[in-house]
Amino acid sequence: MITEQQTTQSRSSDLPRGMDLLDNHELNKGTAFTEQERSKLGLQGLLPPYVASIEEQLVRAYEAYKRNQSDLDRHIFLRALQDTNEVLFYRLLLEHIEEMTPIVYTPVVAQACQQFSHIYRRPRGLFISYPLRDSIPAVLRNRPDPEVDVIVVTDGERILGIGDQGAGGMGIPIGKLSLYTLVGGIRPNRTLPILLDVGTNNAERLNDPEYLGWRHERITGQAYFDFIDQFVQAVKQELPKTCLQWEDFATPHARPILQHYRDELLTFNDDIQGTAAVALGAVLGAVKVSGKSLKDQQIVMFGAGSAGIGVADGLRAAMRVEGLSDQEARTHFWVIDKDGLLHSGRKDLTPEMAVYAQPTERVSGWPRTSKGQVGLADVIGKIEATTLIGLSTVAGAFSETIVREMARKVQRPIIFPLSNPTAKSEAKPEDLIRWTDGRALVATGSPFAPVRYDGRTVPIAQCNNIFIFPAMGLALVASGASRVTDAMLLAAARALATNSPALKDSSAALLPPLTDIRRVAAEIAIAVGAEAQKAGVAPKLAEDELRRRVKASQWFPVYPSFAGTDR
Ligand code: NAI
Repeated sequence: MITEQQTTQSRSSDLPRGMDLLDNHELNKGTAFTEQERSKLGLQGLLPPYVASIEEQLVRAYEAYKRNQSDLDRHIFLRALQDTNEVLFYRLLLEHIEEMTPIVYTPVVAQACQQFSHIYRRPRGLFISYPLRDSIPAVLRNRPDPEVDVIVVTDGERILGIGDQGAGGMGIPIGKLSLYTLVGGIRPNRTLPILLDVGTNNAERLNDPEYLGWRHERITGQAYFDFIDQFVQAVKQELPKTCLQWEDFATPHARPILQHYRDELLTFNDDIQGTAAVALGAVLGAVKVSGKSLKDQQIVMFGAGSAGIGVADGLRAAMRVEGLSDQEARTHFWVIDKDGLLHSGRKDLTPEMAVYAQPTERVSGWPRTSKGQVGLADVIGKIEATTLIGLSTVAGAFSETIVREMARKVQRPIIFPLSNPTAKSEAKPEDLIRWTDGRALVATGSPFAPVRYDGRTVPIAQCNNIFIFPAMGLALVASGASRVTDAMLLAAARALATNSPALKDSSAALLPPLTDIRRVAAEIAIAVGAEAQKAGVAPKLAEDELRRRVKASQWFPVYPSFAGTDR
């Protein structure tokens, strides 16, 4: 946490005055400027006479928030507050973290991206459009603050579940970086949202007369990758120590970009690596609660898209760390896509999917559909599945028959319907709890209300990347790491699992509540920082010193005091 004094000292020399100060969202305190500050900083008469405390401002701001009729209006309200008074914005979010996180980020940010050109008010972040490709270093030098800890960058092509939004995708880096600050404590002025505008193929956007992006179809192929390379080289040149986090790129771009650059600079992809880490953290927590180990698990992955394969890869890597060979680990996975179980007889598998193909001999004689496919019910009927994860977008795929069959064979079935949004969830938690007589360990992709069962209330963990990426940012800042390794992501998942409330109380949720998330983020950051040192990608520090740096790096929103300034 920064102290008020520190802030005053660092900023008193170049402090703006009067309206310039009130227009500065980093320094503005609104009605909380004291009499002394008002008189010294040219604010007298610009504010109503009453000097409010931040607590009083929070009451007023919450009242104003509540007056908004729709979620999109609430989002617009919060964004306006962020652009006016950043400290108050983050304090309000912290006070109402469970209520407001979904408004600032998913799911409401999806509407903000769709409506971006219509609700645009003030500049935030950098737009780097394709026509500017030869001057990217100069564009980066236009950033509002010279020091940047974290960049979140998107090209707007695969925004949440709503696809190509072109320049409207900017809502994502803005919202996501707010959570880096809210949870990880990354200083807001040291975050930089970037939208790479390579055009859009969304006809609705292109035909919208108010569309604010580069009105052009998407750049593709080698020209696209050359542009990405120009961007990365510019970041390396201008901001060599900054973490570059990729967000919402289409799968055919996301993986090659990550593979190409992950050893070249401090970078990670939250859709791929963050998703895998949070799911792994939840599974590790559930496995601990069930009294087993990860390498005892038979894992059925329903859905073999980018999320399904990414999560399976994370689980497989963790199994190797527990001592299994890669070959042994693969035998623990039963991965199913829309054409049934992945097996070696299938000719349609990508190299990433082929890793999980079961040998055809292992499934010979199993029941098959008329198309020759092995379905989910067949797999569950034939093996003793301990973990069932859904990343398929198929609502209701985890039927009563399937779940009862699984629960017949294991004491604590781990069942995670992770597909979003709620309407696409593979099962409803209340059904899972009921069909397994309260024994299932459940985490979901979308938020679900707690379930009442047998006189108790079972809270449902939401497997949300917010448990990983802000902690990762904090770890990188505090430890001075220069790369993000797989082992660091695994360390994050393990630290998350260690903080599972269900370990202390078996009827509690598998993942911590948002109200505890800043503390958990600091714990995860310490584990990740230690792992970075072990991997040789961060300077060596004593454990106490790392802990101290993590705590000191986690910014907390308090108003600076300008009382001592000599202006
Ligand atoms: P994708 O489109 O790449 O993959 C979908 C997969 O499901 C494909 O393998 C497809 O063959 C399979 N599938 C479709 N219909 C099927 C059927 N009838 N039977 C069996 N398999 C079927 O999508 P992606 O990006 O992998 O996302 C999948 C879901 O996971 C989405 O709902 C997404 O919102 C969710 N997700 C959740 C996350 C979380 O943390 N909770 C993180 C990332 C994604």
